[in-house]
Amino acid sequence: MSNSEATPLATITSQPLDEAAMTALSRRIAGAVHTPATIFLRGDLGAGKTTFTRALVQALGHTGRVKSPSYGLLEHYELGPVNILHLDLYRISDPGELEFLGIEDLLEPSTLLVVEWPEQGGAALPAPDIEIVFSPGPGKNPASRCLAFRAYSDSGVGLCRFIDTLL
Ligand SMILES: Nc1ncnc2c1ncn2[C@@H]1O[C@H](COP(=O)(O)OP(=O)(O)O)[C@@H](O)[C@H]1O
Ligand SMILES: [Mg+2]
Repeated sequence: MSNSEATPLATITSQPLDEAAMTALSRRIAGAVHTPATIFLRGDLGAGKTTFTRALVQALGHTGRVKSPSYGLLEHYELGPVNILHLDLYRISDPGELEFLGIEDLLEPSTLLVVEWPEQGGAALPAPDIEIVFSPGPGKNPASRCLAFRAYSDSGVGLCRFIDTLL
């Protein structure tokens, strides 16, 4: 489900964050996530979704590259206790392609599913615990992004409360 019509259980919005501040926040969030968890990342091309995910994946122990999965659709990181699935649905032409991938079958108790362009996934995606909406910060060539967090489950609300203490 795209969740665009669901009412969030909690919402918080950050001040403008430069890249260093945003990735620091992502690393703190990585340390607080309890799996299984699903995070939707919304925002235009260049909004910062992959940058945010890269910091999250590295904070959980990945030392190699974190590629944008725009072409491959899915990148998978097995990091001991956490199993990250990073999906980028920008290029899929219809949610049927995702059903073919059988995403529900890939989900385990240890899975952290992070989805860029979840609006392209339709019913083939699980509902998110939390959604992060990336918007450009102020100015013509913004050097920052504002992040809005919306929780849709109890664990998402817990995470939102924690994030609130960091902002
Ligand atoms: N918080 C931020 N402030 C300033 N620039 C950022 C921020 N986050 C990301 N960027 C820059 O924006 C560009 C695009 O980011 P990317 O994460 O690839 O976007 P997306 O995955 O949403 O398309 C990169 O050059 C990155 O360095
Ligand atoms: Mg991206």
